[in-house]
Amino acid sequence: MGQLQHLFNSHSFWARGRQRDDLQRMLRGSQVAVSAWSGRELIGFGRATSDGVYRALLWDVVVHSGHQGQGLGRMLVQRLLASPELSGVERIYLMTTNSAGFYQRLGFEPVTQQLLLHKQS
Ligand SMILES: CC(C)(COP(=O)(O)OP(=O)(O)OC[C@H]1O[C@@H](n2cnc3c(N)ncnc32)[C@H](O)[C@@H]1OP(=O)(O)O)[C@@H](O)C(=O)NCCC(=O)NCCS
Repeated sequence: MGQLQHLFNSHSFWARGRQRDDLQRMLRGSQVAVSAWSGRELIGFGRATSDGVYRALLWDVVVHSGHQGQGLGRMLVQRLLASPELSGVERIYLMTTNSAGFYQRLGFEPVTQQLLLHKQS
């Protein structure tokens, strides 16, 4: 769990400061998670929640900055999409601040007719 915490703290902007206990709960609450390793170092991660039929969401796709631009992010997303929990699901969503181009290369399209709403606790 320490490696995931480190990857999030060092290479994401939205998942910094997450606590180990909460990360464990996060993993338990995700239907699928994928990881990439260089030896014993965690260098990539992604996860998804899914009802298995109608809707799924990708979350927390991160590649270590020293390993970006080598196809790792693409591989992580493709693995998530190919997983039994996601393949065949009617619609798969994700939210991104600055990586829309990356996901569009993977077949995702911007949604213009819907509005993203959120509620913070
Ligand atoms: C976004 C991220 C996951 C991409 O991973 P990566 O391993 O660097 O990407 P890949 O090497 O697999 O790139 C696949 C393709 O997407 C393109 N691409 C990568 N990042 C991109 C970006 N931010 N915007 C547009 N295109 C991008 C690559 O040029 C490549 O194009 P190609 O098909 O012409 O070769 C990675 O840069 C990252 O972790 N960034 C920081 C965290 C982040 O912002 N995550 C997204 C959360 S929604």
